[in-house]
Amino acid sequence: MEADPKTMSPDLKLRRLANAYQLSRAVQVAARLGIGRLLRDGPMSCPDLARATATDGGVLIRLLRFLAELQVVEELPGNVFGPTPVSNVLHRVDNIGQGEEAWATWSALPEALESGRPVFSEVHGQSFYEYAQSHPQQGANWRESTEAFAAGLAPSLVDALDLSGAASVVDVGGGQGTLLAEILRRYPDCRGILLDLPEVVRGAPAVLKKAGISRRCEVSPGDALEGVPVGADVYLLSRVLFNWQDEQAVRLLSRCRGAVNPGGRVMVAEVLSPPEGTPERRALAGADLHHFLLWGSKFRTLAEYETLFGRAGLVLAEVREVGAGDWRILEGRIDLGSRR
Ligand SMILES: C[S@@+](CC[C@H](N)C(=O)[O-])C[C@H]1O[C@@H](n2cnc3c(N)ncnc32)[C@H](O)[C@@H]1O
Repeated sequence: MEADPKTMSPDLKLRRLANAYQLSRAVQVAARLGIGRLLRDGPMSCPDLARATATDGGVLIRLLRFLAELQVVEELPGNVFGPTPVSNVLHRVDNIGQGEEAWATWSALPEALESGRPVFSEVHGQSFYEYAQSHPQQGANWRESTEAFAAGLAPSLVDALDLSGAASVVDVGGGQGTLLAEILRRYPDCRGILLDLPEVVRGAPAVLKKAGISRRCEVSPGDALEGVPVGADVYLLSRVLFNWQDEQAVRLLSRCRGAVNPGGRVMVAEVLSPPEGTPERRALAGADLHHFLLWGSKFRTLAEYETLFGRAGLVLAEVREVGAGDWRILEGRIDLGSRR
């Protein structure tokens, strides 16, 4: 029977915490070996999997049994292993934010504590998105996992958005268009522009076509820090600012502020940091440290977003709740008092 963490002895609790790395590492390595993809067509024997992954069968079977215990794969009689719903998406873990690269980044936690600086660039010699660009497979897996997340969140985000009266929307850092497709589907009179890095938007036409909104959506490859398409009614930054430190976040907001039509809006969708000392805030502590190590960023409070908006010449005009949880849509309007 599974021990209750509340009544577990301190020693057992500590051992469990300290050993948790075994779970992460097993899953990351299995993902990089391509175990999930190999099992897509059905069960395989351990020797066949060992051949396909160029690994030692004697060690691999131990890994496979561990993965079976974690319900990542299914163990069948005769040293055969089959797929599960988790193994079908296992490859997505081999991405920069959760796989080998994240492992190496967290390994440099002592250096971050010593220097007070994020460590991704030092460990990998490139910033997160530069690395995604120069490592196509890991970049593609990151995008796939991001789009899957976007697909889950999009309906409630769009429920909470109010685009009435807007004839055009630019989705800045919009990935491959999953969220923008949902927006345009719900607002048939609105046109869209999808802006993201060139290697990201390469996959967008297929997403937009599948959603049946290609004719109302333009794809604009580019670096939003350098500029955004000019003259739309709404600029949306969904889950973008959490990747950036304050300077770049202000720059992104300023680009939008400089491009938006008079009377238009700049909207930010993010998880707000819950108040200090609450269980909700404590629940985000691990992710908050992750944000710091990878991007030097953090979960921001409403007051911190208000400050960023102000620095970009925007006033925070409205805060909308997104279903349950800590997601919010922050609506900024041009601060007519600011001289930009
Ligand atoms: C966490 S994803 C969010 C994607 C999408 N907005 C969503 O809500 O699902 C952050 C996005 O920002 C994009 N991005 C990063 N740096 C960028 C830049 N300099 N210019 C444009 N997009 C950028 C990434 O490629 C990625 O698609």
